[in-house]
Amino acid sequence: MKPLIAGNWKMNGLASSVSEIETLVERLNGSAPEDRDVLICPPMTLVASLAAQFSDEAIQIGGQDCHSSGAHTGDVSAEMLADAGAAYIIVGHSERRADHGESDALVKAKAEAALRAGLTPIICVGELEADRKAGRAQDVVGAQLEGSLPETDDDFVIAYEPVWAIGTGLTPTIADIEEMHAFIRSKTRNNVRILYGGSVKPGNAKEILAVANVNGALVGGASLKADDFFPIVMAAPVN
Ligand code: PGA
Repeated sequence: MKPLIAGNWKMNGLASSVSEIETLVERLNGSAPEDRDVLICPPMTLVASLAAQFSDEAIQIGGQDCHSSGAHTGDVSAEMLADAGAAYIIVGHSERRADHGESDALVKAKAEAALRAGLTPIICVGELEADRKAGRAQDVVGAQLEGSLPETDDDFVIAYEPVWAIGTGLTPTIADIEEMHAFIRSKTRNNVRILYGGSVKPGNAKEILAVANVNGALVGGASLKADDFFPIVMAAPVN
């Protein structure tokens, strides 16, 4: 399976940030990267301009969220993101689940809206620290998968992001990552890519990306600088 290395810029990125992508693309072009998919999900304000500028390059552009349809002031639909040149949409990121009270049902509706618009949703799941300490990480993730995955289409990506590992510099042990990814694989089809996310850095990417059933990474902080993101992209093993 072709690995997917996705950068989630969150609420970072101004027009001037384009220089980081130019640097990234330059390095990717020098390294024959066809054996891996590289994605940058900038804030909404940059999706159209970055997609236009880099449409023929070694990277793709995605959104960080979408709404389904209807009158929702301030929101953006999956169709609009497709129209702007996005190829993927992150849905159900833990920050949206926590900050905006997004339920599994809403995440599922967003994933289905993305699929209807011809985009690939990256559906995020992950347990809280208290869940892991209490030994119920798999129960939590299992319930999220049950509630959030589209029923009819398997053209989606799952990102396992333990909430306590996001932006903290903490990561699960390799054995814990392997166990959770095997569990997620048992709940989905063999051709669905399962990304790991949460404090992926140049220093740990190789080890994490080599784990069975880890088919790529969703990278936050370390995706903002080409100097950090490029080595993570190149750390993905070739199948
Ligand atoms: P991080 O974020 O890499 O900064 O931990 C990951 C994410 O939120 O997707």
